[in-house]
Amino acid sequence: MTDIDRGGIIGQSHCLQQVFSVLAKVSPTDSTVLVTGESGTGKELVVRALHSNSKRKGKPFVPVNCGAIPKDLLESELFGHEKGAFTHAIRTRTGRFELADGGTIFLDEIGELDLPLQVKILRVIQEKEFERVGATSTTRVDVRIVAATNRDLEAEVAQGRFREDLFYRLNVIPIHLPPLREREDDIILLGKHFLNVFCTQKMRPVLRLSRKVQDLLALYPWPGNVRELENFMERISILCESDDVMPDDLPAKILQVVGMDVPERTPKKNVNGFEWPTLSDLRARDQGLKDFMDEIEERLLIEALQESHGVKNQAAELLGIKRTTLIEKLKKRSINP
Ligand SMILES: Nc1ncnc2c1ncn2[C@@H]1O[C@H](COP(=O)(O)OP(=O)(O)OP(=O)(O)O)[C@@H](O)[C@H]1O
Ligand SMILES: [Mg+2]
Repeated sequence: MTDIDRGGIIGQSHCLQQVFSVLAKVSPTDSTVLVTGESGTGKELVVRALHSNSKRKGKPFVPVNCGAIPKDLLESELFGHEKGAFTHAIRTRTGRFELADGGTIFLDEIGELDLPLQVKILRVIQEKEFERVGATSTTRVDVRIVAATNRDLEAEVAQGRFREDLFYRLNVIPIHLPPLREREDDIILLGKHFLNVFCTQKMRPVLRLSRKVQDLLALYPWPGNVRELENFMERISILCESDDVMPDDLPAKILQVVGMDVPERTPKKNVNGFEWPTLSDLRARDQGLKDFMDEIEERLLIEALQESHGVKNQAAELLGIKRTTLIEKLKKRSINP
């Protein structure tokens, strides 16, 4: 097996082995790398590993999310600007390419760049030079460029939205991360890893995944890939009451998708639904009032987040509290939806 720092990337599937082997070969070079894959497949982890296994390791690693910066600011963000270049340019500003000098720049979501900026990136790749916005002189940099996208850039090229010459320049070394559903071996491995991390964080014994649950997790298509699996394991680490995760601990959404009937959650003594807790509930759980109330609150918070797919406004509305109150409560419990 190749000897590289995996930077926390977990996986033993055939495709990940290939990723590690390409990483080992290209990390020491200055070649441009394009990492592709659906959202949540681990593109950023791979790019960081690439930098930390390169000879640029001690130098800056500068990520730029091209999709998150407003289009009209992106050029000055990347290349910097001179004082007076535009209305709000009250002082000279260094761009990210200059900040990355000697190191690596990570152009994330490169598919979002508009055509004029694509030309400028192409020039940096080819000539290693650019002009700050409003500058008359040229700046030279020694920067390795690594890009990532969840778009199909070849299709974007065919539709005229992405320059073919830039695509070929970026795609010198392609690394593709397949969706998690195609890495069945890794689903359980990663699931156990995340359970371990979250249970340890919450100082509870590490939960075990029952055989049936492992089968169901392997069947679920994980549209949000590893990110979804990670969030899911965090919720389980809070919500699951016994030491073994059973099918009825899984959210209805997963059970429905894999074609299992949604089981009755808790056997109800009262057909009308609600049962007031009694002191015997506290005794049985060996909890005081505060812990009990905290736990109830936490469960409701998580259920609301699940039902609203993590949209905080909606979750707050479901709970009948203000968004700011919800955020405060989540922060107190270190829950990241
Ligand atoms: N193989 C892996 N081992 C451990 N953790 C992983 C792995 N792949 C992804 N993750 C974790 O999953 C989450 C999403 O990964 P990452 O941000 O790298 O995905 P991405 O492909 O860049 O997603 P997006 O396209 O949405 O930006 C992160 O928390 C990351 O640490
Ligand atoms: Mg990313």
